[in-house]
Amino acid sequence: MKFFIDTANLDQIVEAQNLGILDGVTTNPSLMAKEGITGQDNIMKHYVDICNIAKDGDISAEVISTDYEGMVREGEALANLHPNIVVKIPMIKDGVKALKYFSEKGIKTNCTLIFSAGQALLAAKAGATYVSPFIGRLDDVSTDGLALIEQIRTIYDNYMFDTEILAASVRHPMHIIECAEIGADVMTGPLSAILALLNHPLTDIGLEKFLADYAKGNK
Ligand code: E4P
Repeated sequence: MKFFIDTANLDQIVEAQNLGILDGVTTNPSLMAKEGITGQDNIMKHYVDICNIAKDGDISAEVISTDYEGMVREGEALANLHPNIVVKIPMIKDGVKALKYFSEKGIKTNCTLIFSAGQALLAAKAGATYVSPFIGRLDDVSTDGLALIEQIRTIYDNYMFDTEILAASVRHPMHIIECAEIGADVMTGPLSAILALLNHPLTDIGLEKFLADYAKGNK
């Protein structure tokens, strides 16, 4: 399972990269705004900074346009920034056309705002590299986000689609573990959810005892 971090915060990306487990970064316009990154030039520069930190990882950069021509224009400019850029396209009608365009040009895409199996099927048909079902936002409206991951896994396996399932809107460590059990190809979440995987009280108690026993025997 690939681990992506869902942030535009450079310090957090550095921390995840230094941990040695980072396979990529996802961003969106809200995450960029949260870091105070505004204006086209600054936004483009920030994507390059992220690419330089995350080395070989795939970096999702989202288009703002909602019409086909605009998405193609913006996506090409984003893809030209760095070879690791993945053009993030919303699941709308013109977005499906843009996914097909980029797929034929060999440019990687991430189809975002996926909330149903039908949307995931369309994105795969159009040749998306990744689809991003937002599991946390489904859970927020009393709908089972993980059930959607299972449904998409079944459909993609039935027809051997190459599109990778990128479980997005991950909120906590159990989301990550359950996505791994189901067989999501990738998860993207906050650094806090990734670091929470480290924790177990028996690990802390066990380490404390080992160190205490060592100290007793090596006074
Ligand atoms: C995915 O690419 C999105 O950036 C993200 O996972 C959305 O998560 P949220 O629901 O926590 O905003």
